[in-house]
Amino acid sequence: MSTVTKTVIPVAGLSTRFQPATKAIPKAMLPVVDAPSIEYVVSEAAAAGISDALLITGRGQEAIADHFDAAPELERALEAKGDQARLAKVQATNDLARVHVVRQGEALGLGHAVLTAADHVGEVPFAVQLGDDLIDPRDEILPAMIAAQAELGGSVIALMEVPTEQISSYGCAAVEPAQADALGADVVRVTHMVEKPAPQDAPSNLAMIGRYVLGPGIFDVLRSTPPGRGNEIQLTDALQTLAQGGQHPVHGVVFRGRRYDTGNPLDYLKTVVSLGADHPDLGEDFMTWLRSFLAGR
Ligand code: G1P
Repeated sequence: MSTVTKTVIPVAGLSTRFQPATKAIPKAMLPVVDAPSIEYVVSEAAAAGISDALLITGRGQEAIADHFDAAPELERALEAKGDQARLAKVQATNDLARVHVVRQGEALGLGHAVLTAADHVGEVPFAVQLGDDLIDPRDEILPAMIAAQAELGGSVIALMEVPTEQISSYGCAAVEPAQADALGADVVRVTHMVEKPAPQDAPSNLAMIGRYVLGPGIFDVLRSTPPGRGNEIQLTDALQTLAQGGQHPVHGVVFRGRRYDTGNPLDYLKTVVSLGADHPDLGEDFMTWLRSFLAGR
């Protein structure tokens, strides 16, 4: 049994980097091969034993919750066609998790989005998954983060080494070895965090990727966290306050697996090609086409 049963998935951002594609549809509904990106995120949580997903949404994003609802008319149509394979895929999304929605109102930053989840979460540790980051299902990270939080308390963030010139796109963490050897070398103690530093100011090349297991103590800190970078209430700033205070440790799990970014058109294209190439039904045909496409360039 996982000690973490709830995940919070903020999706209310304006996705300015993806306009105009996402002017009228939520970015989380853009398809990655044959499922919207949000389905990968909720599936990742379900695979880690998390059965309760709270979506933090905004105006015009009802389609995201609809995706996890039963669709009787569609299901009857697939049944009548005898398309059992697609029917099974459609029905599987209904049962992935109990999906809840809370509206963020104004999009005042990631920290503000997480704070809107306080009533739903209560006094237990919980996961946060950012929809722009997809973790390859073969390289899961949430179970290691949940185990680290259960052992060490406080909060746990996911970290990944990136080239120094890319660090300004991420929260960045300075780390030292953790006390608990039993959890392995990939679990580190976080001593300092800064949101999107310039490469010359970055304390390391460890980027915070969008997975967190947070202690409920984060909520009180978020309530008094002023707007930071971009004039937004930053989750990174609240975690930094906790790390400095000493009462609520922050640890990191260094991820060495495959992570994909769906937050901007170029990285999104790379994600679709990478996951398309490995797709169990489509991958072989897609790769045959891709090889001949590249040969003709
Ligand atoms: C957010 C976080 C940042 C983190 C990033 C991961 O930034 O604020 O700390 O590194 O997600 O994707 P955003 O990309 O939403 O601007």
